[in-house]
Order: sequence, then C-alpha cells, then structure tokens
Amino acid sequence: MTPQIIDGKATAAIIKAEIAEEVKRIVANGGKRPHLAAVLVGHDGGSETYVKNKVLACEACGFQSSLIRYEDDVTEAELLACVDRLNQDPTVDGFIVQLPLPAHIDAQKVTERIDPRKDVDGFTPVNVGRMVIGLPCYVPATPKGIIELLRRYHIETSGKRCVVLGRSNIVGKPMAMLMMQKAYGDATVTVCHSHSATLKEECRQADIIVAAIGRPGFVTADMVKPGAVVIDVGTTRVPDATRPKGFRLSGDVDFEHVAPLCSAITPVPGGVGPMTICMLMLNTLQAAKGE
Ligand code: GUN
Repeated sequence: MTPQIIDGKATAAIIKAEIAEEVKRIVANGGKRPHLAAVLVGHDGGSETYVKNKVLACEACGFQSSLIRYEDDVTEAELLACVDRLNQDPTVDGFIVQLPLPAHIDAQKVTERIDPRKDVDGFTPVNVGRMVIGLPCYVPATPKGIIELLRRYHIETSGKRCVVLGRSNIVGKPMAMLMMQKAYGDATVTVCHSHSATLKEECRQADIIVAAIGRPGFVTADMVKPGAVVIDVGTTRVPDATRPKGFRLSGDVDFEHVAPLCSAITPVPGGVGPMTICMLMLNTLQAAKGE
C-alpha cells in the first residue's frame, strides 16, 4: 500500500495565509492587530526552538509578538507577577508560558494564574473543563492541529476505533476528549500509556493511532492494522553527527516499516509540529476577536 503522506507543513502554510488575510481585513477596517506574548524561562533547546518558531509564525500571520525571557533562577513569585502583568495588559490578546519550567517552580500554579480569556494554550482548568463538556473554549494546539489535519485530508473518524498513546495534559488527554466528542472525532477512543498491559493488542485493532508518548520508534509494524491512519506526535531529539545541529527529530513511529501498511501517516518532521504552532495562531486570532 502506498500511504497518503499527511503534509502538516503545507497545510500549516495554507492556514497561516488564511489567517494573514483575515488580519489584513481586520486592520484595514480599523481593528487591532492580534498580539501574542510568550514567556520563556531558561535555555532548553526544544523550548528555544518552539518559541522562536512561534515568533516567526506571528510574523507570517501579521501578528504583534512579544517574548519575555527569564533565566533559570527566576523565582516563582517573579513569574507569577509576570503572569499578573500580562493578564492586565490590554495590548496583549493571549499569552503562553512555555513548558517545562525549572523544578523549583510549580508549573501548575503558574498555569492556574493565567486569565482563561488569554489562555491561548488552553491549559487552565477553566478551558480544560469547558472543552470536556463541549463549551466554547481555547482548544490545546496539538490536538486541535491533529483534528484539523484529519478534517482537511477528509479522513473519516466518526464511529472509528481510535487509540491514543500517551496521557499527558498537553496532548494525550485532550486528544482523547476531542476524538470522543461528537462535534470533533465522534470516534470510539481508547487511551493507552506506559502501564497498559494490552497496548499492542489495542493498537492492532485501531483504525486511527495517535502516538504521543515521546519514545522514538515505539510504534512498530506489528502493532498496526493494514489500512490504519497513523498520527505521530513524537519529536524526540536523537544525537546524529551527520546533521548540522548534531541531532535529528525522531517520531514515536517506526516510519520506514509502518508507513507501507498505512492508508495515511504523518511524517516527522513536517507533520503535526507545524500544525501545532499554526493552531496557536488561530487561538490568538480568536482571543483578539473576543470570541
Ligand atoms: N511545551 C511543549 N508544548 C507546549 C505547548 O503547546 N505550550 C506550552 N506553553 N509549552 C509547551
């Protein structure tokens, strides 16, 4: 079988162009340019890259962006004060605090301090709760991007068996919730994780697998039903001396052996990653419009 390669990079470029058009219209009509702020603590390589890409995406969409940086030794009180300032800043429509945070800072406490109306990551308890019961909210960017990819590639999810690998608050849990909901996936959802005894068997029965466990090559060919759709959320940095940066990004799926079995599959890089940032832009546009 020759699988359809789900091109997240190209899809994200189309959506960013759509957003840029809308921003042009808003500004031409005297409206305010959307403004996203990002708070970055320390110098974690992955976080630096994410935040840099978020700033670039803001430029591509015609948004204003602000980057607020702190060193690793920032205190929790300083960070909470920063969140308070951003909550009250009328020029900022939405903001994110890039995770992970250093161990001496309670990330949950910082997240809970964010005004839900500016929580474009959709991580605050108010937005999570609203999402679970199907109320208007900010949907976390990675699951939202996956849903959008499935929709744009006309992949049927209603009534299908979907296995989500991973139960993180950022990806696994919200992904499972969305895939279950009538308005999004309308699928039969199973969540598997590091302690699932029947993980392989569950995967083998799945029409759609969403892999978000952060273990390179975890999903192997013997776990995939012929014709399945496989979405790879993994982006682990694997040392690779042949690459200019000394590493490459590895997905959770053994692409080489799994792809030939699939009806459709996302590559890493160029699959889910670009969509995630693009959905953050959509959430920021939603915030700027006061929706
Ligand atoms: N760290 C990894 N993914 C994300 C994300 O989507 N938002 C934030 N704030 N931090 C992250």
